[in-house]
Amino acid sequence: MKIRLGNPFTEEKIADVYSRYSHRYHAYQEAFEAFTRLVPLESRVLEIGVGTGAFTELLLSVGYDVKGIDRSEEMLRRASEQVRVLSRNCDLLDYDYSGKYNVVVSHSGGFTFKRGKFEIYYQKKEDLEQALQKVHSVLVDEGRFLVNKGEHDNEIDLENGAILTIKQEEAENSRIYTYTFQQGDREITRQQRRLALSPEELQEMSSHYFNWNFDDERWIIGERIPKFLEIMQVSEDDP
Ligand SMILES: C[S@@+](CC[C@H](N)C(=O)[O-])C[C@H]1O[C@@H](n2cnc3c(N)ncnc32)[C@H](O)[C@@H]1O
Repeated sequence: MKIRLGNPFTEEKIADVYSRYSHRYHAYQEAFEAFTRLVPLESRVLEIGVGTGAFTELLLSVGYDVKGIDRSEEMLRRASEQVRVLSRNCDLLDYDYSGKYNVVVSHSGGFTFKRGKFEIYYQKKEDLEQALQKVHSVLVDEGRFLVNKGEHDNEIDLENGAILTIKQEEAENSRIYTYTFQQGDREITRQQRRLALSPEELQEMSSHYFNWNFDDERWIIGERIPKFLEIMQVSEDDP
């Protein structure tokens, strides 16, 4: 029997499709293995954009101390109880927490390095700048910001004769994504713009916060730059 899928671009449907098919196009295991080589097990980790928790579960399975955030309630609802308990439902920019982490990680959680560019769900550079500042502020002095190198196919088979195709066009400082859902004679399209920066643009923009290293096969790594004013403050307070 053919199941006719409804509008696939509601928040609820996107979360459904994601929880069922993301394993087909994300190389979770390879990203996880590379992560364990880069990050000691005793690290405190904040994951941005846990989504349905697929990457978080892998981190938890080997004993990382993980906290998470995600701005989508629909995605979090599909995560395991354990992931929901350790996660907050908020955007990174609204994340308010006084603790410190050794590592902040995004596995396609709104920040990805894809096809040579740093891609972000935010559309304005000011938002990205604030996000970098926020990540910097929740990290310990020697902390690191890890962002996965993501790739995916441009056609995803959703079964029941339904196919999702993804096209991307380069524009100034951004990429325009066109998602087309096809099933039989039905076709629905949605466009999304994302900020996309070259490594040089990212480094220039991050100059107060991170030094980026692009050498690893699976992750780009932002090494936290110590805050100049904090250092000044400590030495002024010293007797
Ligand atoms: C493609 S899903 C990835 C989920 C998961 N990390 C994985 O690897 O399967 C992206 C998730 O990031 C979340 N997200 C994107 N930008 C975010 C931000 N600025 N703050 C919090 N969550 C964000 C979205 O709500 C979505 O659930």
